[in-house]
Amino acid sequence: MSEQEAHGGSRGSVLRFREMKRRGEKIVALTAYDALFARLLAEAGVDLLLVGDSLGQVVLGYPSTLPVTLDEMIHHARAVRRGAPDTFLVLDLPFLTYQISPEEALRNAGRAVKETGVEAVKLEGAAPRVLRAVEALVEAGIPVMGHLGFTPQAVHALGGPRVQGRGEGEGLRLKNQARALEGAGCFALVLELVPWELAAEITAELEIPTIGIGAGPRCDGQVLVVFDALGLNPGFHPRFLKRFAHLDGEVRRAVEAYAAEVRKGTFPGPEHSFPLEP
Ligand code: KIV
Repeated sequence: MSEQEAHGGSRGSVLRFREMKRRGEKIVALTAYDALFARLLAEAGVDLLLVGDSLGQVVLGYPSTLPVTLDEMIHHARAVRRGAPDTFLVLDLPFLTYQISPEEALRNAGRAVKETGVEAVKLEGAAPRVLRAVEALVEAGIPVMGHLGFTPQAVHALGGPRVQGRGEGEGLRLKNQARALEGAGCFALVLELVPWELAAEITAELEIPTIGIGAGPRCDGQVLVVFDALGLNPGFHPRFLKRFAHLDGEVRRAVEAYAAEVRKGTFPGPEHSFPLEP
């Protein structure tokens, strides 16, 4: 068996990410919500695509991730799967699809996996009810990614997107939560808005990889919301964000050029038009 087959074929598997951590290879992750971007990101060699419930804000125009439904997540994850058939996909289970009972979590996660073809799901927090849900999913064979630090589904309880884990007590609480999620069977852990020193300690202590967003350079991998990374969300300026392009200006320029040509009548030209005689 080749090494690729051992690690789950071209999509990879949870084993591949643990192996990447062991070798010190960084894991590159981005969010994706549709087939077109999923294809571009897969072609660019991203290791893991997250169909995040940030979908609610960046695609659907909701004020937070809270209104996102499982049906919406499934609809978009199916598109991402079609665009990136060979990439490892993780789907965010939306608010209240996994907290009520482990049975309901399993029913919802199982439906997501069956209907979309994602490899894994992500849950937020480490409350006892979340740990029970993680155990139920892992026992049923569904890989689970954890998510600690700022957890957007708890935005109202946390008072907004604030750095979590500052101060000795809070830092210890976060470390214990990370240990508990690893113990419950998570294959990886997102750390969001966590001081980099604390994220480095958690990363060194855990065997499973950590994927940071606003958690500094010592995590085992990094994830960003794709539209933020591409500079398509000009009003959003958190300290952790680096824009690797400024596509908002490009899009505006292109649309203004198109509008000007349509208004002048220079588009479409003869080269874009069909004569009666071919
Ligand atoms: O929903 C999302 O996009 C996420 C990432 C920001 C980690 O959870």
